Amino acid sequence: MNLETFEKRLPWMVVGIVFVISLGGLAEIVPLMASPSLAEPVAGMKPLTGLQLEGRDLYIREGCVGCHSQMVRPLRAETERYGHYSVAGESVWDHPFLWGSKRTGPDLARVGGRYSDDWHREHLIDPRAVVPESNMPGFLWLAETVLDGADTADKMRALRAVGVPYTDEQIETAGSDVRGKTELDAMVAYLQQLGIHLKARR
Ligand code: HEC
Repeated sequence: MNLETFEKRLPWMVVGIVFVISLGGLAEIVPLMASPSLAEPVAGMKPLTGLQLEGRDLYIREGCVGCHSQMVRPLRAETERYGHYSVAGESVWDHPFLWGSKRTGPDLARVGGRYSDDWHREHLIDPRAVVPESNMPGFLWLAETVLDGADTADKMRALRAVGVPYTDEQIETAGSDVRGKTELDAMVAYLQQLGIHLKARR
């Protein structure tokens, strides 16, 4: 068999292409699967508190992911704007991932600590009150709904089943942590912890 066999016979060409691409795939993917750094949380990371966890669920319910990604790419333009690029260890406890792929608004992977709690409250209720040119919708009902925390412990148990290291104590106290707080409190608590573990090392 010489090169002409590949050039003149389509099936052989296909076999050749698949072979070469799988070599590339093996070289890239197999070492990653064996690397522990992918499954290890970044230093100092803690599972979300009850209130933050409820905030995350609200983030999903309200469809924030449809306008905001949570994934800073390792490109200069992104790291200059948002901070350290996202690493796998920051997402190990995210079920499901909220990386997103649409940026009508800015990426939120490192928004934690960028603004005050009060700024977020005002912005979520009426974005144009703080950013006049904003086309983000207001989420005023978040401030009006009080959480009872009835499901928080169950949510933590479910997450523990897929590997998030919640302790029994955290699960027991989860509901009382949340009870009486508003959805807005939960959302702000969630936003304020996004990406803070790598920020300091920017
Ligand atoms: C229709 C698209 C859209 C949706 C849905 C949306 N946003 Fe936004 N968001 C934007 C735009 C555009 C901006 C930039 C202008 C501004 O700051 O308001 C923004 C800005 C932000 C900022 C400030 C980011 C920064 O770095 O300045 C935060 C925080 C934020 N949004 C949170 C949320 C949350 C939480 C939700 C869900 C409750 C949400 N957004 C839903 C479009 C959206």
